Amino acid sequence: MIYVEAAKAPLRKTGHIKLYGPDGFAGMRRAGQLTAQVLDLVAEMIGPGVSTEAVDKLIFDFALANNAYPATLMYRGYRYSVCTSVNHVVCHGMPNARPLREGDIVNVDVTLVLDGWYGDSSRMFAIGPVPRRAERLLEVTYEAMMRGIAAIRPGGHVGDIGAAIQDFVEPQHMSVVRDFCGHGVGQVFHDEPNIVHVGRRGEGPELRPGMIFTVEPMINLGRPHVKVLSDGWTAVTRDRSLSAQFEHAVGVTETGVEIFTQSPKGYHKPPYLPT
Ligand code: MF3
Ligand code: CO
Ligand code: CO
Repeated sequence: MIYVEAAKAPLRKTGHIKLYGPDGFAGMRRAGQLTAQVLDLVAEMIGPGVSTEAVDKLIFDFALANNAYPATLMYRGYRYSVCTSVNHVVCHGMPNARPLREGDIVNVDVTLVLDGWYGDSSRMFAIGPVPRRAERLLEVTYEAMMRGIAAIRPGGHVGDIGAAIQDFVEPQHMSVVRDFCGHGVGQVFHDEPNIVHVGRRGEGPELRPGMIFTVEPMINLGRPHVKVLSDGWTAVTRDRSLSAQFEHAVGVTETGVEIFTQSPKGYHKPPYLPT
């Protein structure tokens, strides 16, 4: 199985960051909007009693009905169309049959591939009323992602993004996960550069027009440390504290930044009331 071997091969780190032109931005806009559309549908169907398996099925069916496919399906042995990470699961949670319950918080992370372009985005969902501390975590995590994105400008550096996130999150006694990061994206799922969600302004590669990558901070109520369960995928907080994440795919423009995965319905953060 050449496919499996190629997928397992270590990423070659050449230090080269691809620059995309107008066609690339157009492709990412279309893929990103399709992903955002299905996340809007998730917002309208998810709730108490709904299983993450049902979310997986919705995303699979939507992808196929729209000439797209879910990038995670059969990716490095992963068997689902989406990652669903509930409560203390940090990322890469696998859909299952357990009905979601009031008080749960869940991240739904979708990557739809349309015409070869990868639209990668995730949002948090609150199931019914959730504890105040969970509400605060979702609020801080969304704001952290948006501050990271707002720090992006041509001539800036990758480190500006992590610095903006870390400097916002840590004073609120929450922590930024170090073990997973954002990534270059485009016609490849995971590409250079790594977008670390902590850092120092001015450090790392220079941001140039045409770069396309994700910003996807994972924020914990407790300590930042993570462990991966024996299923080989599910990453959880070591201290079992709640964890949250939002993700957008973005491109660096001549003047700033474009977000490819904005919600068409204005469902930016919970509660998902159109704005
Ligand atoms: N969508 C995730 C990301 O943001 C990657 C999921 S990889 C999987 O990069 F294999 F776990 F599905
Ligand atoms: Co991603
Ligand atoms: Co993702």
